[in-house]
Amino acid sequence: MGKIIAIVNQKGGVGKTTTAINLGAALAHSGKKVLVIDLDAQANATIGLGFSRELLEYTSFDLLASDLKAKELVYQAPNRNIDIIPGSEKLIDLETALFNVDNKELILQIKLQPLKSKYDYILVDCAPSLGIDVENALFAADSVIIPVECEYFAYEALPLMINKIHQVQTAKNKKNQKLTIEGVLLTKLDNRNIFGYKIIDKVKNLMPTKTFKTIISRSSHLQEAPMRGGSVLKTAFHSRSSREYRELAREILDNNG
Ligand SMILES: Nc1ncnc2c1ncn2[C@@H]1O[C@H](COP(=O)(O)OP(=O)(O)OP(=O)(O)O)[C@@H](O)[C@H]1O
Ligand SMILES: [Mg+2]
Repeated sequence: MGKIIAIVNQKGGVGKTTTAINLGAALAHSGKKVLVIDLDAQANATIGLGFSRELLEYTSFDLLASDLKAKELVYQAPNRNIDIIPGSEKLIDLETALFNVDNKELILQIKLQPLKSKYDYILVDCAPSLGIDVENALFAADSVIIPVECEYFAYEALPLMINKIHQVQTAKNKKNQKLTIEGVLLTKLDNRNIFGYKIIDKVKNLMPTKTFKTIISRSSHLQEAPMRGGSVLKTAFHSRSSREYRELAREILDNNG
């Protein structure tokens, strides 16, 4: 049975999408069957995996706001062992589209059930919000990865995300008690700057057993890869960034036995 991992942080620009693309590619490189669900109106994961948003007929908006089945919305990423349900700017209107729907935070959980046997890992790339899209991801997920940039405001915002996860674990009638924290992932570490290491210490103090050993360094390879329509494993396999994301995949595979 596949595992659904939501990549969440209400703070923007911390590396959620970069992690969805590159961890997805690294898990696929390890022979795992991977689906990435792009739940962000910016559709950065979709573009970063080599799709042109104009060509996409169906998207994750239809997953949440139509009767279409999840398997009808899956596209295969060009030349790769990753499938995707793309993002769309229509997601901006999701709250309105779901206004009168009962149990609207459970749509994704129900829709993804049939896909769980088809994939080893389903990674859900979330928008920087705590709206209905992210609630759906949290109720559907088995675990979350929380990317945290090695800077103060990102550290300072972490407890809010942890509280949100706790709310989902304990929500009356609709709880997702199985939801665990796969790990907090420190990202964008500038190893010439001592300050980043102070943030690492603070995060490890806050989440001693839940911080990934792997830390993602700041690197231009990760900024360039999406422009070339692929993961860093495809565009610069021997780079440090590629190695770090492969190490992260290894850590997750080891943790999941
Ligand atoms: N390790 C890194 N080194 C250098 N640049 C990075 C790294 N990780 C991400 N970036 C860059 O930082 C920016 C934000 O990253 P990304 O889009 O992955 O964050 P996000 O959390 O998904 O943002 P949003 O909240 O807007 O969805 C992008 O330009 C990306 O290329
Ligand atoms: Mg993003």
